Amino acid sequence: MRIISLQHGTKEQIEQAARLLVGGFRENWPKAWPDLPTALAEVEECLSPERICRAVLDEQGRVLGWIGAIPQYKGRVWELHPVVVDGSHRRRGIGTMLVRDLEEQVRRRGGLTLYAASDDENGMTSLAGVDLYDRLFDRLQNIQNLKGHPYEFYQKLGFQIIGVIPDANGFGKPDILLAKRVALGQ
Ligand SMILES: CC(C)(COP(=O)(O)OP(=O)(O)OC[C@H]1O[C@@H](n2cnc3c(N)ncnc32)[C@H](O)[C@@H]1OP(=O)(O)O)[C@@H](O)C(=O)NCCC(=O)NCCS
Repeated sequence: MRIISLQHGTKEQIEQAARLLVGGFRENWPKAWPDLPTALAEVEECLSPERICRAVLDEQGRVLGWIGAIPQYKGRVWELHPVVVDGSHRRRGIGTMLVRDLEEQVRRRGGLTLYAASDDENGMTSLAGVDLYDRLFDRLQNIQNLKGHPYEFYQKLGFQIIGVIPDANGFGKPDILLAKRVALGQ
């Protein structure tokens, strides 16, 4: 396995990346990228030169997973968006490889903070289906993962829950915000 910048990827690799988005988000975020054209448009956006877009390839050069990041706050903060690993290659450390590599890429560009916004549209955590304006901090502190929501993936990589956008996807369907310091800066 090796990591490349998808900005230098082939047309085939870019299409593979788009297919991973459709397949990877279908079950829990069905509105994200319902078909290949919407996913291809997303990948094209991720390839813009000011962004970071990296992919893990297998020996044959096929994309097993990929990650993107968008500069915010004059490049001091980067939004991780998106990350996906092929369904048959999960839980083998590829997601970790992608995030670790992204952290290094962000550091090289002078970034201090990496953050991710991870929707819960599907009752995957205890933050869904409730009024988050009631006992917000208590709820954040005692979050439960009910159906394999990826917030725990981020936590294992050192991210902390830093907040939530209530009702981001309709009542009781929040967006969970996680962040990690990647450098101290000047
Ligand atoms: C989330 C995702 C990128 C993780 O990729 P991966 O290659 O399976 O991750 P890793 O194998 O590096 O896992 C690292 C750790 O996180 C854990 N983990 C991974 N996904 C998890 C999940 N959904 N829920 C809880 N824990 C998870 C792993 O068990 C592993 O723990 P360990 O170190 O104790 O063994 C992958 O599951 C995926 O593509 N999911 C669909 C798309 C998605 O959810 N993207 C993120 C949306 S914000």
